[in-house]
Amino acid sequence: MKIVLAYSGGLDTSVAIRWLKEKYNAEIICYTSNIGQTEDVKKLKEKAIKTGAKKLYFDDLRQKFVDEYIIPTLKASALYQDKYPLATALSRPLIVEGMVKVAKKEKADAIAHGCTGKGNDQVRFELTTRYLAPELKVIAPVREWEFKSREEEIGYAKKHNIPVPVTKAKPYSIDWNLWGISIECGKLEDPWNEPPEDAYQITVSPERAPSKPEYITIGFEKGAPVSLNGKKMETIKIIEKLTEIGGKNGVGRIDMVEDRLVGIKSREIYEAPAAVILHTAHNELEKLVFSRDLFEFKKIVSQRYSQLVYFGQWFSHIKDCLDAFVEESQRFVTGEVRLKLYKGNCIISGRKSPYSLYSETLATYTEKDVFDHKAAKGFLEIFGLPSKLEGLRDK
Ligand code: ARG
Repeated sequence: MKIVLAYSGGLDTSVAIRWLKEKYNAEIICYTSNIGQTEDVKKLKEKAIKTGAKKLYFDDLRQKFVDEYIIPTLKASALYQDKYPLATALSRPLIVEGMVKVAKKEKADAIAHGCTGKGNDQVRFELTTRYLAPELKVIAPVREWEFKSREEEIGYAKKHNIPVPVTKAKPYSIDWNLWGISIECGKLEDPWNEPPEDAYQITVSPERAPSKPEYITIGFEKGAPVSLNGKKMETIKIIEKLTEIGGKNGVGRIDMVEDRLVGIKSREIYEAPAAVILHTAHNELEKLVFSRDLFEFKKIVSQRYSQLVYFGQWFSHIKDCLDAFVEESQRFVTGEVRLKLYKGNCIISGRKSPYSLYSETLATYTEKDVFDHKAAKGFLEIFGLPSKLEGLRDK
């Protein structure tokens, strides 16, 4: 038997190499990708092999992540439960795409992941695998094995000469990529506790942010960010720059209690400066160029879209349909938004577009006003008719 394992180099997936090998009498191929976190590939490879893997594949998936996952989700304004920009959720189907390719090349029988039985990530891994390669078996060692605690796992690792990460056990579980960081566990498990400062990895607290605001301007073309402060830039660069500028100004911290697919409520904190800034700016530009109907209707699409992503249904016909709607909706989402970043706040300070529906001569209260005030009388006669009929009846 041959198994492709999603490998991070941490304790769980290191132990998984050995455990899978024994339990399934299998050859283990490790798979790791770069989706924005820095990794020493050479060291990782050595470690995987030393732990018992046959080989390790490493893909740089950053560009694909941005083009095929991040930007469509931004255009869709998809925020799970109105807050979470979905960084972790988006990365899972992307990783599985890579793993399935390797599995086919290696003629593997199964893929394996290190997710637990009560999280969302197992769902994303397995739904994507079922869609892309239904012939592959999926194995989830962490759901199956006998270890009841981290200590037992470490014991097993020591017994089998598996290098245990030397760093002192981190109090948090952290998942990190280009679009954001997800942080759980430790003190965060009590939702009444304010997140300790050491939980945050890339943002400063508002208190420690500069006391002078920083202005930035983001340019969009058909819903996608294309420039920063007037300079054309690759999307990936824009995301990296905004992560840095936002983080430095304390922007992008999200603290929420969310509903997992399995029904558990979990307290999660996120750091996603680029996602927060880009969603804020993008949404503002839509307000300028969308009709009222489109703006309201798209909210329904956004909400459904975010659920599909969160629930692991990235590859589904319904999502394709929503993507088609979203893509068309972005036809006029071109223009610029200026923002003020200040002590954790991301404040809109200006917006413009060649496709703006805003008309100053209609909106103004000065002598430039061209609105026909008299026409309102007839409008209200008719628009007010249902109110009049109901009022009469209710009397
Ligand atoms: N709750 C988030 C999600 O389901 C993030 C989970 C990330 N895992 C972690 N180890 N922090 O997408």
